[in-house]
Amino acid sequence: MIFTVAIDGPAAAGKGTISRAVAARFGFAHLDTGLLYRAVGAKGGDPVAAARGLTEADLARDDLRTLAAGQAASKVAAVPAVRAALVEFQRRFARRNGGAVLDGRDIGTVICPDAAVKLYVTASPETRAHRRWLELGGDAAQVLAEVLERDARDMGRADAPLRPAEDAVVLDTTDMTIDAAVARAVAVIDARLAARGQG
Ligand code: DC
Repeated sequence: MIFTVAIDGPAAAGKGTISRAVAARFGFAHLDTGLLYRAVGAKGGDPVAAARGLTEADLARDDLRTLAAGQAASKVAAVPAVRAALVEFQRRFARRNGGAVLDGRDIGTVICPDAAVKLYVTASPETRAHRRWLELGGDAAQVLAEVLERDARDMGRADAPLRPAEDAVVLDTTDMTIDAAVARAVAVIDARLAARGQG
């Protein structure tokens, strides 16, 4: 069975947690596509060459979750040739047998426009910054400034900007517990599987 779930949204909206939970719930494979851009940014040097030569070891680095790695990722992600180099890998992953969840910024709009389910997970910038701060610590005002800076770059770039696909279900997690957000995502996927006769 090919069944792709596309989960897009801005930084720290809850995409990762929701993606991992629904992948476990349905037995789907999960790809955090932000990790690809983080690995390219962390490699340094020519980002296009880094994207073309990305290896498993690059993705396994333990310094990819920092604020600095997020900023570097957001910068290399604005380079069209970097994005182009990563398209095929993501599409192949999405088509794997048994179902796949991909989370990122352009999954429902560019990578998998035919995904069976598209979710756009968002929350207010203040809420997202607070969650990132709880996770990583540091100066709260600076964390908020970095969230806003990354939003502006990811939404404002010319190539594959962050925006909800027209047919995406929008999930605003600002006032939701993570359990409620996961339950809502599961309900959307259940309904789609049932509509396909696979529920
Ligand atoms: O989801 P994340 O915070 O790990 O993503 C890091 C950066 O990578 C994000 O600021 C923009 C970029 N990105 C992207 O452009 N397209 C994706 N599908 C995923 C991430």
